[in-house]
Amino acid sequence: MPRTLGLDDLAERACRAIIAQFRRPTGKVGKLFGVLMGMRASNRRRNRWAVEHLSIQRGDRVLELGCGPGVGVRYAVEAGAHEVLALDHSIEMIRQADWRNRPAAAAGRVVFRLGGLETLHPEDGPIDAAFMVNVVHFLPDRMQAFDMIGELLAEGGRLAVVYQPRMRKVSEAELLAGAEELAAEMREAGFADVACHRLELKPNAALCVVGHARARARRAVAGIQAKRDARPKPELRLVVSDQAGHA
Ligand SMILES: C[S@@+](CC[C@H](N)C(=O)[O-])C[C@H]1O[C@@H](n2cnc3c(N)ncnc32)[C@H](O)[C@@H]1O
Repeated sequence: MPRTLGLDDLAERACRAIIAQFRRPTGKVGKLFGVLMGMRASNRRRNRWAVEHLSIQRGDRVLELGCGPGVGVRYAVEAGAHEVLALDHSIEMIRQADWRNRPAAAAGRVVFRLGGLETLHPEDGPIDAAFMVNVVHFLPDRMQAFDMIGELLAEGGRLAVVYQPRMRKVSEAELLAGAEELAAEMREAGFADVACHRLELKPNAALCVVGHARARARRAVAGIQAKRDARPKPELRLVVSDQAGHA
């Protein structure tokens, strides 16, 4: 006899459906998710904070992976980026991001691309700063992603990876372990001066792990060194941001 669905089953199904929409917003529901992400003050704040960690200089070329409705793109343009290359594999999100950044896109300062890192090619570089906000947990191979981004970044280029567990309250230890893991992977991909910044939000703090790209020749050596240093783990520098989002 088929089992009747209990409240727990329904809650789990609802959670899975929500996560699937954040992973790749599709259809009418996806559109609504995009509108909400674009409107929510906490999402705007998280994106503004992420962009602040990129120290964008006038004329910089910036890459965003998983731009969603284009909130971060807008902050990057406002920060003075000469060009923002924004990737997302959801057509609904590309449409909303384009709408949100119409004047900059019309002026050629923003280029949208439907897809993910697989759409990148060497001519897209050099990039001065790259970021992703609440995307990293959806990537099938994070190390490969950091490697690919590292390949495109100019020496000294910044990569900011923001993540915030949103579906449930997690322990402090779990939160920091996630940041440590990300930092170790970025070091292994050859990034230098990896630091973690923290912004108090609900239900959990958002963490922003920032690393700096080394010159191509030094990157491989640094990766081997990072692997060797992996145990004991190098201490992760943690910088706590105040309420306005400034470290
Ligand atoms: C939770 S949303 C965050 C959107 C945006 N970064 C923000 O903070 O408003 C995740 C976004 O990343 C996109 N995404 C997830 N995995 C991706 C991938 N592998 N390549 C490109 N886009 C991806 C999704 O389509 C979605 O728009």
